[in-house]
Amino acid sequence: MTSSSSNASILRVQDLQTYFPIRQGLLGRTVGFVRAVDGVSFVLNAGETLGLVGESGCGKSTLARSLLYLHPPTGGRVWLKDTELGVLSSTELRKQRLRMQLIFQNPYASLNPRLTIEEIISSAACYHGHIRASETQDFATKLLEQVGLRSEHLKRFPHEFSGGQRQRISIARALALRPEIVLCDEAVSSLDVSIQAQILNLLLELQQQQGLSYLFISHDLAVIQHLADRVAVMYLGRIVEIANRKELFQTPAHPYTQALLRAIPSGDPKTRRPLGERVLAGDVPSPTKQHTGCVFAERCPQVTSECRQQRPEFRQIRTGQLVACHHARMDSA
Ligand SMILES: Nc1ncnc2c1ncn2[C@@H]1O[C@H](COP(=O)(O)OP(=O)(O)OP(=O)(O)O)[C@@H](O)[C@H]1O
Ligand SMILES: [Mg+2]
Repeated sequence: MTSSSSNASILRVQDLQTYFPIRQGLLGRTVGFVRAVDGVSFVLNAGETLGLVGESGCGKSTLARSLLYLHPPTGGRVWLKDTELGVLSSTELRKQRLRMQLIFQNPYASLNPRLTIEEIISSAACYHGHIRASETQDFATKLLEQVGLRSEHLKRFPHEFSGGQRQRISIARALALRPEIVLCDEAVSSLDVSIQAQILNLLLELQQQQGLSYLFISHDLAVIQHLADRVAVMYLGRIVEIANRKELFQTPAHPYTQALLRAIPSGDPKTRRPLGERVLAGDVPSPTKQHTGCVFAERCPQVTSECRQQRPEFRQIRTGQLVACHHARMDSA
């Protein structure tokens, strides 16, 4: 993907890498790296929801934090519309970062317990000069109403709210900075299923009203299927497939995507897999290992010697998706 990608794109990511050094010994010598994000490229289009799915530890949160330069990437480039983030001064980066807001999984830990809801929602907007101190009450009231809470909640503290209400407050806090992009990192994973549905519908409504773009991270494919326009599948620091939701769920092309979809529990006894059947053989390899070939080779049922020796490039196949797999080549567009 290059800097000349479609005009509709709001975020462009090219070959992003984030490595964490592994230090040992008294002198803290670097003896290796955790390759948490290892050459990720994608585009987020304006107004769309891109789902990002993959097993625990595959690098989803690190990717989100690297897009914001909270973990400065080891390599690669990120553009927010026409602004390249990696070349900015720290003051300018702080300003640009406001255009992307992050909503976390745990609304218990992410809200400061000592601040009232009014302070939580309005303090950053006040600090950055979006509003005056005298305007915080009206400002926070409007945002609370947008997320389905009431002005009587303004003077209360986070511990007085349920998990779903706290996540609504987190969303109001994110919207307070008028972002163009919201990065949702497992934003509904800690909530009951019925509350999950309410928050997902709220996110969809807000997107329609405000034209927001979402990068929606989840390990739950049912949630991704409900919300995403396109889906990126991540494995061991790399994206292995990107597709429109329909193609991804109907004709998954990468063997890893196929395995993930097989892992969705079926409610129908006729199609339910016998207990103990393994969806994926083997364990996730260590993220410290450097792969010359395909990252999925060690667990792939279709593996050949080519897969072990040569890294598969992303290519578009007949059914429309981008896939990094040597065996998707037969169907190339
Ligand atoms: N600050 C850090 N220092 C060193 N290693 C880290 C750091 N943060 C993450 N890692 C490692 O990077 C890899 C990716 O972690 P990350 O949290 O991004 O995964 P994830 O896909 O978000 O997982 P989960 O679904 O469990 O949230 C893991 O191997 C993790 O141990
Ligand atoms: Mg995570």
